[in-house]
Amino acid sequence: MKKQVIALLTAAMMVGAMAGCGAGGSDTTTAADTTAAETTTAGDTAAETDTEAEAEDGAETTAAIGGEGKVLVMATNAEFPPYEYHDGGDIVGIDVEVAEAIAGKLGMTLEVEDIAFDSIIPELESGKADIGVAGMTVNEDRLKNVDFTDPYTTASQVIIVKEDSEIAGPDDLKGKHIGVQLGTTGDIYASDYEADGSTIERYNKGFEAVQAMQQGKIDAVVIDQEPAKVFVSQNEGIKILDEALTVEEYAIAIKKGNTELLDQVNGALAELKESGELQAIIDKYISAE
Ligand code: ARG
Repeated sequence: MKKQVIALLTAAMMVGAMAGCGAGGSDTTTAADTTAAETTTAGDTAAETDTEAEAEDGAETTAAIGGEGKVLVMATNAEFPPYEYHDGGDIVGIDVEVAEAIAGKLGMTLEVEDIAFDSIIPELESGKADIGVAGMTVNEDRLKNVDFTDPYTTASQVIIVKEDSEIAGPDDLKGKHIGVQLGTTGDIYASDYEADGSTIERYNKGFEAVQAMQQGKIDAVVIDQEPAKVFVSQNEGIKILDEALTVEEYAIAIKKGNTELLDQVNGALAELKESGELQAIIDKYISAE
């Protein structure tokens, strides 16, 4: 566990260092040719929030940016409440609103593309999407394939079990059947237990893992804390164990070497932090308790 935390923090520090040394690449992605299967145009919430923020920090934002009028394509996996999820026909959540606010600051229109979580990085690499915003944890492996912005929030992995489970902490996962969402940090973490005789079931959606546990197919689910809270609140007879497994940071992934977009998004993100808008978006979805 210690090792993981350190690895993640190191990764986060690397992101910080990288963000500081923008080497002026000109690899801007054109969003125009995106063939997103499931595309939603940014909702009206962004419009309100943006005007407010723009009024405060005005001209310097848009002056620095060349994205005016263009489409910013966000790749996500909308199975991850409260960060991104389906609400009727819409895709909503913290990440969507943060991305809308960023797009607004860059004078761009946000388009949301809902794909499998493990397709997000390939989608960025191929230039079909511009930003990956999916509660995505910064880690060293991913940093080999994409760049990350500065983090916008911290998170952790937790264990969900049935209320009457004998599993009381991380050590008890040994030899158990553990469910995760494919390709997530929960998957990476849980996979460490394979050496202890555990078996890992990898689902396309985190919620499917929770359902499988309720059907008695698996013993525990390892997943990010906030989605875990949502799933537990929506389902009887399951609980989150107290001990968190990791400390992680979420950031926005961008095609490797596209320092122009990276700098722009970091600039917008910094303004959203500064103005309190980022925190306001988070607070809208996560109650402080
Ligand atoms: N934080 C975890 C990771 O980066 C899980 C993210 C899952 N996100 C999603 N939208 N399904 O691997």
